[in-house]
Amino acid sequence: MTRDTATLIADRTRLLGPNVSTFYDDPVHFVRGDGVWLWDAEGRKYLDCYNNVPHVGHCNPRVVEAIHRQASTLNTHTRYLHDGILDYVERLTATVEDPLDSAILTCTGSEANDIALRMAEAMTGKRGIVATDATYHGNTSLVSQLSQSNVPSVGFGLGSYFRFVDAPDSYRHPDSDGQIFARAVARQIAKHERSGMGFAALVICPYFLNEGFPDHPDGWLKPTADVVRKAGGLLICDEVQSGFGRTGTHMWAHQKMGVVPDVMTLGKPMGNGHPVGGVVTRGDVLAEFRKGYRYFNTFGGNPVSCAAAMAVLDEIETRNLRANAREVGQHARARLRQLAETYEVIGDVRGSGLIFGAEMVLDRVTKAPASAFTDRLINKLRHKGVILSKLGRHKNTLKIRPPMVFSVENADLLIDRLDQALGETLAEGPVDA
Ligand SMILES: Cc1ncc(COP(=O)(O)O)c(C=O)c1O
Repeated sequence: MTRDTATLIADRTRLLGPNVSTFYDDPVHFVRGDGVWLWDAEGRKYLDCYNNVPHVGHCNPRVVEAIHRQASTLNTHTRYLHDGILDYVERLTATVEDPLDSAILTCTGSEANDIALRMAEAMTGKRGIVATDATYHGNTSLVSQLSQSNVPSVGFGLGSYFRFVDAPDSYRHPDSDGQIFARAVARQIAKHERSGMGFAALVICPYFLNEGFPDHPDGWLKPTADVVRKAGGLLICDEVQSGFGRTGTHMWAHQKMGVVPDVMTLGKPMGNGHPVGGVVTRGDVLAEFRKGYRYFNTFGGNPVSCAAAMAVLDEIETRNLRANAREVGQHARARLRQLAETYEVIGDVRGSGLIFGAEMVLDRVTKAPASAFTDRLINKLRHKGVILSKLGRHKNTLKIRPPMVFSVENADLLIDRLDQALGETLAEGPVDA
């Protein structure tokens, strides 16, 4: 059945229920992808500057072939012996620090974070969790409590286990050595301890992607890690978005930030769209968790998922995609800074590798967020064939996070179209409209 756009929208609500969000005022209906390109049902071509799930490119031939080969041979649940999962975990753990030598594979990032929280409880015997107040870590009953913006009015009373610190904001509240953030974490830990709950873990994306990827020097998280360790808690680094070379300088963002987590969680790009997630940790943490929980995940780490995930690692390595992210990201940010010389509305340009963007402001002195303008801009870009989004506490930062095969040519096209879109959006009405 082929529906037109209006019917697709109406049927989504009828069949999937209310509040199932779509991007854009005029939602897009994609029917095909290839590398960094997407095509809609009318045959229009779009440059994908947003999607990190197709990490090594939409419909990557190596990943497609690996899935096809393994699906044509065998796929089962994970209670039979199989080399695929062991080969993958060995290869994955070789990319992280030595103590992180074992893993549990899941199907989603949410499941991975749920396990991570339970590991923290198993290791410490405590339940108090700290996170930032402008993040997202997933959708299980427990993990959804980590997202202040999503905390529901229901939720099995789990909210009492969570305390929040202000998300770092390098543009408005500089904290160049990370001491302010570390002290804020320490205060929340102390509150957990005073309440009798005790402190189990700090959960953060080490590059604070959902918070708007603040600009911090390498090693910035060291003081925070010290605070967490001193309090006897676990450092959980959610690398669902920041991992697999995204930042260009390191394979994992925690390495960039100078810390070794107790637990690292993975998802989104891991299988290039095939649903694979994971929890990487030390043997002692895994053993303690396994003692406390009899954990089984039917699909987590099945042979097809492992084949897909292995092909992603092959692509990153053989095509040197981390270095590509570094070079292309540098070029794109240099061009964004040139645009900022023309457009006052661009208050800040930041990022690393292929996660970058520009923060839109009403004026550069007050730094008041131009949230409505940012929304108009991304809708304008959608009609110019460029897919990106917005994020951060004020939703006024362009979120540019393309597949890792993004080229300098692609970056030039993005910036040229952004230049046009900025001019046209400003001509259509004032920034604060
Ligand atoms: C940082 C981060 N962690 C975890 C998740 C949850 O992953 P999933 O949607 O695969 O459950 C997300 C999803 O957006 C995320 O951005």
